[in-house]
Amino acid sequence: MSVLIRGGRIVTAADDYVADVFVEDERIALIGESLDIQADKVIDAAGKYVLPGCIDPHTHLDMPFGGTVTIDDVESGQTAAAFGGTTCHVDFVIQGKGQTFAQALDDWRAKAAGKQVIDMGYHMAVTDLADGGTLEELATLPDQGVTSYKLFMAYKGALMVDDETLYRTMEVAATTGALVMVHAENGDVIDVLVKEALAAGHTEPLYHALTRPPEAEGEATNRAIQLAHLAGAPLYVVHVSCKESVEPIAAAREKGWDVWGETCTQYFFTSLDDIAKPDFEGAKYVFSPPVRDKSNWDVLWNAVRTDTLSAISTDHCAFLFDGQKTLGKDDFSKIPNGGPGLENRLQMIHEFGVRAGRISLNRMVELLATSPAKLFGLYPRKGTIAIGSDADIVVFDPGKQVTISAKAQHSKVDYNLFEGTTVTGSPDVVLLRGHVLVENDELVASPGIGQYVARARFGQELKPARTAVA
Ligand code: URP
Ligand code: ZN
Ligand code: ZN
Repeated sequence: MSVLIRGGRIVTAADDYVADVFVEDERIALIGESLDIQADKVIDAAGKYVLPGCIDPHTHLDMPFGGTVTIDDVESGQTAAAFGGTTCHVDFVIQGKGQTFAQALDDWRAKAAGKQVIDMGYHMAVTDLADGGTLEELATLPDQGVTSYKLFMAYKGALMVDDETLYRTMEVAATTGALVMVHAENGDVIDVLVKEALAAGHTEPLYHALTRPPEAEGEATNRAIQLAHLAGAPLYVVHVSCKESVEPIAAAREKGWDVWGETCTQYFFTSLDDIAKPDFEGAKYVFSPPVRDKSNWDVLWNAVRTDTLSAISTDHCAFLFDGQKTLGKDDFSKIPNGGPGLENRLQMIHEFGVRAGRISLNRMVELLATSPAKLFGLYPRKGTIAIGSDADIVVFDPGKQVTISAKAQHSKVDYNLFEGTTVTGSPDVVLLRGHVLVENDELVASPGIGQYVARARFGQELKPARTAVA
């Protein structure tokens, strides 16, 4: 099937111009002015932006966590992503205690089978090197396109690893060409603070934030940076929420160290005021790192504008308010940690980043598509509009007004962190490898169309390919 996208404003991380895009055999075949060519489908993009499909490098679909399982499975989560203009994401495989990495990968592949609406890759979250996965097995993962290792420095007694596991994994990454990712919060200290808060009778959601102070994030970020430098491994700090964590990343990058960081949409818009809401409403804002003081919003906008932080993800980890968050009604430490966001990242960053004059349109594309593609071994097959790249394209209408609401969303979750926010600018048509996924506010394609993408090693390019590796 061929598609001609006529007269749109093509915006990449570097360019901004009006042209036609011709798509054939799932890839971008031609870009030019007033192309004289026949196509099976023509999309009039006059007055609209033609953007590369966004890439979300941080999601948790169908993941057991906090005594329950995230509410969005691969089908509902990826459907929400498609409506939001995201055409590829990298999800976290979590190694269960005692599991080999192969077993963990098999589990995650089984959850995705037949359900994929967009393309996806996997990171491997290492939780146990003592009994199950070995360093030797870890070293083989990049051969299967799993080219990033994630370590949790928090969630004591669950996903948290000690510094030995962290450092040994970094040593493996230094030799295999994998990128190390860290959830940087000091889990031991948080555990003490949580116990002290509960002993003092503090059970409400606000104490989730008060027991995870910015210093705990700053300390862990700095520790991970120093250890990664020692091991010679590249490092990516996920979900940076505050100045205390931005500063060590900025310092490392100024020294030319191989350190990158992301923040997530929610950290620009949520604060301690939200988690302090009465009647357990604050539980909707229980995620980690927690909401912070509002003074951090400007710190984060500045960091993404200046490339101290290089990507904006969603950390979509959705739990129902009614039935899942309520597990912690009487004890904030039992509220499953995580929030939704997969559907609204592009709308929110366009509205409050680009339209508000905080970042340029090119920078938005870089933060949501091109940088994640480059950092996670997907570029130039994905993350840009170029001849030969996968035809993952968002025709974005900069004049379309949408009021964000849980009622209208495609995720299964029963709330939205940005409820009631009106944005001007939203995806109109979304294509995955030239197949129309979303048009006229309908999902047009069927689950099964998405593919697994074997990612290139850190720093290497992923060449455009006709057939994806299954
Ligand atoms: O609260 C969060 N962020 N839940 C998802 C797991 C993680 O830490 O990324
Ligand atoms: Zn995390
Ligand atoms: Zn996460």
